Amino acid sequence: MNDVFELRSADAAGRIGELRVPRSDTIVETPALMPVVNPNLQTISPARLEDEFGAEICITNGYIISQSDYREEALSTGLHEFLDFSGAIMTDSGSFQLAEYGDIEVTSAEILDFQYRIGSDIGTPIDIPTPPEAGRERAADELATTQDRLESIQDVDTGEMLVNAPVQGGVHTDLRERAARDARATGLDIHPIGAAVPLMNAYEYGTMVDVIAAAKRGLGPSSPVHLFGAGHPMMFALAVALGCDLFDSAAYALYARDDRYLTVRGTERLPELEYLSCECPVCVAHTPDELRAMPDDERETRLAEHNLYVSFGELRRIKQAIRRGNLLELVEARARGHPAMLDGYRALLDHADQLEREDPASKDAFFHLSSESARRPEVRRHHERLARLSVGGEILLTEGDTNAAYDESWRVVPPFGPFPRALSETYPLTAEVPERLDDAAYEAAASGVAKLVEANLDAEFTLAHRDWPERALETVPERVRRAPLESMDEYEERGEDEP
Ligand code: GUN
Ligand code: ZN
Repeated sequence: MNDVFELRSADAAGRIGELRVPRSDTIVETPALMPVVNPNLQTISPARLEDEFGAEICITNGYIISQSDYREEALSTGLHEFLDFSGAIMTDSGSFQLAEYGDIEVTSAEILDFQYRIGSDIGTPIDIPTPPEAGRERAADELATTQDRLESIQDVDTGEMLVNAPVQGGVHTDLRERAARDARATGLDIHPIGAAVPLMNAYEYGTMVDVIAAAKRGLGPSSPVHLFGAGHPMMFALAVALGCDLFDSAAYALYARDDRYLTVRGTERLPELEYLSCECPVCVAHTPDELRAMPDDERETRLAEHNLYVSFGELRRIKQAIRRGNLLELVEARARGHPAMLDGYRALLDHADQLEREDPASKDAFFHLSSESARRPEVRRHHERLARLSVGGEILLTEGDTNAAYDESWRVVPPFGPFPRALSETYPLTAEVPERLDDAAYEAAASGVAKLVEANLDAEFTLAHRDWPERALETVPERVRRAPLESMDEYEERGEDEP
């Protein structure tokens, strides 16, 4: 167990946790959003972020401060007083700036020491954000440099400051997994997954999911994970479901600067809006025309406020979903808001076995909402159980009633497939399923039948189904007798034995 991070509730690989930040003597509830504070051009003061929006933690750039006119002020007063923020403050190292301007004079140790001296609560060494287009060799080289730097800071006196150990590796998932294992082995406190920004900007959410899943395999479940540069609320639920705990948003301010309005279904442009479809105080008090008529700085502030309300609101929704156990339903709803998020959700389900390992055994009712639901970890877990169940005799697997002509009559519910009637009230078999099911649900149920049948070669099975599609029936093993349910009901009504 990581000694600064404690897990409270979980759903899929998502979790509510408590990050203990000793230097500011604060506890940050995760998943948490860290608004980016840029002392040069801050539209909304850190004090407002804390008091009005409930930010428990923010992030600022230590390198930019070290190069600025207020460097000495930050050193003498300390970051908390300098920014006027009493919660936890994370500092970034300026890796992007350093990569751009190639300042080879400063070392990771010096950069981290400066962050310590200005009173940062969580510091970051210099990592190399390897872009997605980088080939394996370059990604591996840069990773080795990042890892050397992580080792080079072991002797820096950082007192009670927590230290980030970033995970890089570009889009090469084996490198990401190895980097994550190495980052964890440093014993440092928090693990940011780096260089995801270009993937998110290009709407490559499928690749982003694969990268996060790889990093999580290397990190294990106990480390707090920060998804560097992730500030769009439409992807928070997806990233949380994979096990990300911290997000930083520069988006709320950057987007406001050029009239972009964040929503959980994507980004809108103020010039194109006729209505403000949001319940926040800004949107309730103004029409789009009123916002458009404001002076630039006032409009920018109002849009930044809206962007923050939406972002923090989505995080509260996510935490409530984790408590209820319906985080994947929320991810699914977000996947329906934007095709790029559907790619992300489908990629997430490619890792259903990985999610299944952290997913709690019991939650609120499973809602089957689309063909993707059939690939959820709960379905997978049920199928693994079926493969271990042992039965004998003549077994009826039926979507209808019990039939005394068989030794046992099991229920069959798509997408789960068969289960003994006694389990009807246990999770996830209490699922709410639509009457008009998709083919994927039947196919998943059929593969559940196959798992059970293949594990019980001595038993005889009959499947009584309500007109399953041919593709699903093809998945049912040959030796299972099929009995379309209408005909069985008729025979029962006439009091005859079925044929
Ligand atoms: N901000 C966004 N992405 C990154 C990253 O990969 N590394 C650092 N240090 N900061 C970031
Ligand atoms: Zn709003």
